Amino acid sequence: MLGALLTGGLALLFPALLAQPLAMAAAQGSCAALVSYLLRGPVWWLPIHLGFMPLAVLALGLGLPSWVWLAGFVMLLLVFWRTDRSRVPLYLTNAASSEALLKLLPAAPGAAIDLGCGDGGLLRHLAGARPDCRFVGFEHAPLTWAWARLRCRRLPNVEIRYGDFWSHPLGDYVLVYAFLSPIPMHRLWIKAKAEMKADARLISNSFAVPDVRPESTVDVADGRQTRLYCYRPAG
Ligand SMILES: C[S@@+](CC[C@H](N)C(=O)[O-])C[C@H]1O[C@@H](n2cnc3c(N)ncnc32)[C@H](O)[C@@H]1O
Repeated sequence: MLGALLTGGLALLFPALLAQPLAMAAAQGSCAALVSYLLRGPVWWLPIHLGFMPLAVLALGLGLPSWVWLAGFVMLLLVFWRTDRSRVPLYLTNAASSEALLKLLPAAPGAAIDLGCGDGGLLRHLAGARPDCRFVGFEHAPLTWAWARLRCRRLPNVEIRYGDFWSHPLGDYVLVYAFLSPIPMHRLWIKAKAEMKADARLISNSFAVPDVRPESTVDVADGRQTRLYCYRPAG
């Protein structure tokens, strides 16, 4: 919005800009990126600010029927759901991290849960390798949940449940896995401390619990240098 205000100011100074939508969009993107930089926003937002408006103007130039935009929006909503509230988008645990996680499962049979299980790929991998364990995945994005259910339907030791994992108690699990974002980690820690069994482990992919020293960490040998943070919240 600050970018738009600055661009409005530019348009007052140079009225000819108003006749060139792409130039206006580029100016808005540049102003937004500048504001974001000055406010010390995350670096990865800079290309988004720079590219968003110009790409929107170019896309409008394609003259697509309006239902295409609605369909795109609905599709994104069904895959990402309320990312604005959860602050957790969809990205998936890679094969190397799944393998590392497998080694962290206790030797004895038990139940594990993936909080926000995405497409269920991780649970499929774990369930195939450990038929003696039970795996539960919670997912609140409708299309992602349906996809995970479909993919895991033949695995008797996997249960994919629809809904918000915050309302699901964690007391049954020997391992709780989370690949979320930095935002919910403190809240997750409070929940895990209150609900998990004393010997159960919370493992967070990439995002540490703020101000809590993990019991151990595992550095995964993958391209993105994944780190798994292992905690015993109630231990
Ligand atoms: C980063 S992805 C991780 C997917 C999967 N766990 C994996 O590692 O491949 C996080 C997922 O959590 C889901 N999610 C976020 N908040 C949730 C909530 N409160 N309840 C259920 N699912 C949630 C998102 O929709 C997304 O699919």
